[in-house]
Amino acid sequence: MTEGALHLPADLAAAVRAAGHLVVLTGAGMSAESGVPVFRGQGGLWEGFRPEDLATPQAFGRDPERVWRWYRWRLDRVREAQPHAGHRALAALERDGGFERFTLVTQNVDAMHQRAGNRSVIELHGTITRAHCEAGCGRTAEAHEVDPAAALCACGRGRLRPSVVWFGESLPADAMDEAAEALEQADMAWVVGTSSVVYPAAALPGIAARRGVPVVEVNPEETPLTGQLPYSLRSSASAGLVALARARLGEREF
Ligand code: APR
Repeated sequence: MTEGALHLPADLAAAVRAAGHLVVLTGAGMSAESGVPVFRGQGGLWEGFRPEDLATPQAFGRDPERVWRWYRWRLDRVREAQPHAGHRALAALERDGGFERFTLVTQNVDAMHQRAGNRSVIELHGTITRAHCEAGCGRTAEAHEVDPAAALCACGRGRLRPSVVWFGESLPADAMDEAAEALEQADMAWVVGTSSVVYPAAALPGIAARRGVPVVEVNPEETPLTGQLPYSLRSSASAGLVALARARLGEREF
């Protein structure tokens, strides 16, 4: 046992060992230790603006340059960031965990799970790395190549916009259906680093919890979900995921 390692309750460790289909749902707190800022709480503001004031079609319509500058700032943080031990633990679990089925669902738009080696990731809120034409002409671009001051699409009918889901927009139907189906079938779920206040993603853990399957939250803070779950680890994503992964894979470094 590594000194200072998080200790799991025995029944939780047993449930991790027994799980056939594990669903892991991640939010911005998953990437915090890699240096990607969270949206809410400390460090969540950008130039005094709340995400709800920037991540909307209306904000983009009013001031596309400001919205693009915010996304380019986030993208720069993402491109500098490296996956941490918790990301690597999830990649090891998908590869070596021996699950009948392993489903990773993320609200994050930073593609850090893919960079860490997870093969199939359901992205509920799109990706910050890409842009597409708001007029629907089908053109796409790499987000880091978009000039915030002149983001007009080559079709001339609209601007290039970040390929993320904004407040007031629908989630990609396929991604949401696949995530909900996985939580209906799962026999264990982990909910890591999300404030559990943004719907519909925040409703997903309840699908598994209502069926009585063990659902574990990993978050240094309490959330509206905490009281509804049988297990809650008050820990960082890296410490919590390393402890959970070791219950399945044995003592090893990630
Ligand atoms: N490890 C785990 N959790 C952490 C860590 C950490 N090291 N640091 C912070 N957290 C937790 C915070 O306590 C908080 O509960 O991560 C959570 C981050 O919450 P939000 O910033 O609200 O992120 P998220 O829940 O992913 O937001 C949902 O809101 O703005 C939209 O589309 C955006 O996908 C995002 C959605």
